[in-house]
Amino acid sequence: MKQGFRPKAATIMVVDDDVESARLLECALLPLNFNVIKAHTGRDALALLEKAMPDLILLDVLMPDLNGFEICSMVKEKVDQTDYDFIPVIMVTALSSRRDKIKGLEAGADDFISKPMDLAELLAKVKSLLRIKYLHKSLQEGYEELKRLERVKDLLTQMIVHDLKNPLTAIMGCLELLDMRLGESLPPEERFSPHNILHITHRMLRLINNLLDITKMEEGKLGLDYVNIEIDRLFQEIEEMFSSDAQRRSIRIVQEIEDVPVFQADRGLLVRILENLVSNAIKSITSRRAGLITLKAGTDAEGRQVVISVTDNGCGIPERYQDKIFDKFEQVKMRKKGERFDTGLGLTFCKLAIETHKGEIFVRSREGEGSEFVFTLPLAGNSQAV
Ligand SMILES: Nc1ncnc2c1ncn2[C@@H]1O[C@H](COP(=O)(O)OP(=O)(O)OP(=O)(O)O)[C@@H](O)[C@H]1O
Ligand SMILES: [Mg+2]
Repeated sequence: MKQGFRPKAATIMVVDDDVESARLLECALLPLNFNVIKAHTGRDALALLEKAMPDLILLDVLMPDLNGFEICSMVKEKVDQTDYDFIPVIMVTALSSRRDKIKGLEAGADDFISKPMDLAELLAKVKSLLRIKYLHKSLQEGYEELKRLERVKDLLTQMIVHDLKNPLTAIMGCLELLDMRLGESLPPEERFSPHNILHITHRMLRLINNLLDITKMEEGKLGLDYVNIEIDRLFQEIEEMFSSDAQRRSIRIVQEIEDVPVFQADRGLLVRILENLVSNAIKSITSRRAGLITLKAGTDAEGRQVVISVTDNGCGIPERYQDKIFDKFEQVKMRKKGERFDTGLGLTFCKLAIETHKGEIFVRSREGEGSEFVFTLPLAGNSQAV
């Protein structure tokens, strides 16, 4: 028998209006060292339930105030609504009809024993249900412990990821200095090194920030810092951010801005949404033909939303993946293994950040031709504070 399972310490509640029958059951159970408590009415039974917290109930069906089916339903309901452990109920009944058994099962009974009682059978059923109760309890405790450990692990990961930011930004600062001071004086092939390392550290920082903010947004803990957004300035900043990377890969970035009024959004998040989308677009352009990325902005027909899109003429996304790419860690397994260390979090971040703004994101794409990621942000009434 498993450690911790002590059926003899269990408390059994006998519910029977017939004092003699209850006494008979008590006499059968006491020699096995069970604690026995008795109730002779339904109401007594319910009152005792809270006081004594029995491990199992032997319940007579026919009683004057509440019948066994009613008591059984009430006990099971109580267990469901509170953090009581599972309380098995055996219905002791003179009724042997199929209909009553079904009624008993519907009320939540775990087993039946017919009158006149076979005591050996009754004791075997009691022990078996107590064993199930113990297993149920250990499973529940195991599950609670797993949940607790999962929370601790999440917290720890979150702290480690957060702490990675400081050394990384320090490295980036040094590299920027090195790139500025030495850049001009180095031959082109050596100049590429600090610049390249800088580019990689930027990507690492983007991944760390995505990871940190996804968790915050999932927990609803990321507050938005609404400010006025001028779309042309925003696009300019994004274009500058990627200009050297795009140049190196012979990719042109162009802007198409229709009449977009100043609107309110969290600028930091908006920059990072576009940063993720443009970085994906750049990664998608691997063919030799001239790469083109278009940043577009306009409003919808009713003038209620800003519509922003990032279009590329890269590899495109097969239709079967188009829904999945917004899920955490989903990556289209089209690229050769080991080509890059992406996490598949970029679009999850974009989706959550856009939805936090009460907007939407979707993709239109054709394999081999390119993709267009479109997102909307509400124009009116979207600001909490400006
Ligand atoms: N513009 C695009 N063209 C083609 N495929 C794309 C494009 N954008 C996203 N994808 C596909 O969707 C997948 C998920 O994109 P997502 O930005 O979430 O992750 P990632 O870029 O792989 O990693 P991370 O953004 O975390 O560095 C990518 O791996 C890629 O296969
Ligand atoms: Mg990405």
